[in-house]
Amino acid sequence: MKAIIVDAFGGPEAMRWGEIATPSPGPGEVLIRIHATSVNPVEWKIREGGLARLFACKFPLILGWDAAGTIAALGEGVGGFAIGDRVWSYCRKPEIQWGTYAEYVTMSAEAVAPMPANLSFAQASTIPLVGLTSWQSLLDVAEIRPGQTVLIHAGAGGIGSLAVPLAKWAGATVIATARSANHDYVRALGADHVIDYTATDFVAATRAIVPAGFHMVFGTVGGEVLTRSYEVVRPGGILVSITDKTDKDLAERLGIRVKYVFVQPNGAQLRTLAGLVEQGILPVPDIEEMPLAQAAQALERSKTGHVRGKIVLRVD
Ligand SMILES: NC(=O)c1ccc[n+]([C@@H]2O[C@H](COP(=O)([O-])OP(=O)(O)OC[C@H]3O[C@@H](n4cnc5c(N)ncnc54)[C@H](OP(=O)(O)O)[C@@H]3O)[C@@H](O)[C@H]2O)c1
Repeated sequence: MKAIIVDAFGGPEAMRWGEIATPSPGPGEVLIRIHATSVNPVEWKIREGGLARLFACKFPLILGWDAAGTIAALGEGVGGFAIGDRVWSYCRKPEIQWGTYAEYVTMSAEAVAPMPANLSFAQASTIPLVGLTSWQSLLDVAEIRPGQTVLIHAGAGGIGSLAVPLAKWAGATVIATARSANHDYVRALGADHVIDYTATDFVAATRAIVPAGFHMVFGTVGGEVLTRSYEVVRPGGILVSITDKTDKDLAERLGIRVKYVFVQPNGAQLRTLAGLVEQGILPVPDIEEMPLAQAAQALERSKTGHVRGKIVLRVD
């Protein structure tokens, strides 16, 4: 099969477009013929060796965790899928080696689900990783409820594009941050207020809107943004970080909870997300589409930190 292959950690030059053996599904796995994958910032971080302490990385390595495609083969013992079914998946495995920047990927059938019937492969590929991260952070960990207030940093990014409408669907009042050029986009996602973090201090701006502090802050931006986010959580509220490590001592002193989340594959939750997409509750993020062969350029674009929505890599 054709794939983008990484032979050693490095920059864009470490990625090459080449041929590699097509994998076969093991027991309990399916083989997916990928039609589209989407870019997540974690991919340039992996390529540069930034996750090597957390996960075993083996070479040759294929990046990519999002897949939308069709079932091409079934491993032993797999039921519930047929050849040709249109599916999506967040294809993260315990070891990083065989990802989705390729024509085929194998994945545990439990982590695969039928994709939303009303979406193209390109549209569907934007959702699994960011949709599951948002679900697991907002609903499983923070357990947000109607009437609560939620701050979502980076409302225009991949995560924000799913987290804002999901938090609205859960009944929360949503305040999001974004550059002013992205305010219409974030409002259309459902945010009640959007703060231009480039023109105003987000702590002061959010205090003016929610003086008592937030029930939940979704820490999708690290560094100083995350450090200062502790200040805007109300006592008893929660800060969920998906970027940097959390400071439990500081949280305890402030009387708030803090939790780091790393998204887990989950086919059942993908089925729920597909239903929400089909009902029009979750919109499709804005898309910048490129061919898979241009994956290196796509990762440089992602590295700027200013993509609106998602970059899709077409696998024809
Ligand atoms: N732990 C996990 O399981 C997990 C899962 C998914 C993602 N992540 C991490 O979460 C982070 C966000 O992911 P993503 O996919 O949403 O990234 P992304 O799509 O690359 O985010 C880009 C967005 O970030 C916004 N942004 C940049 N700096 C900002 C700031 N200081 N304040 C507010 N917004 C800012 C930009 O908006 P403007 O152009 O308007 O500035 C842009 O729309 C990444 O670090 C990613 O690696 C972790």
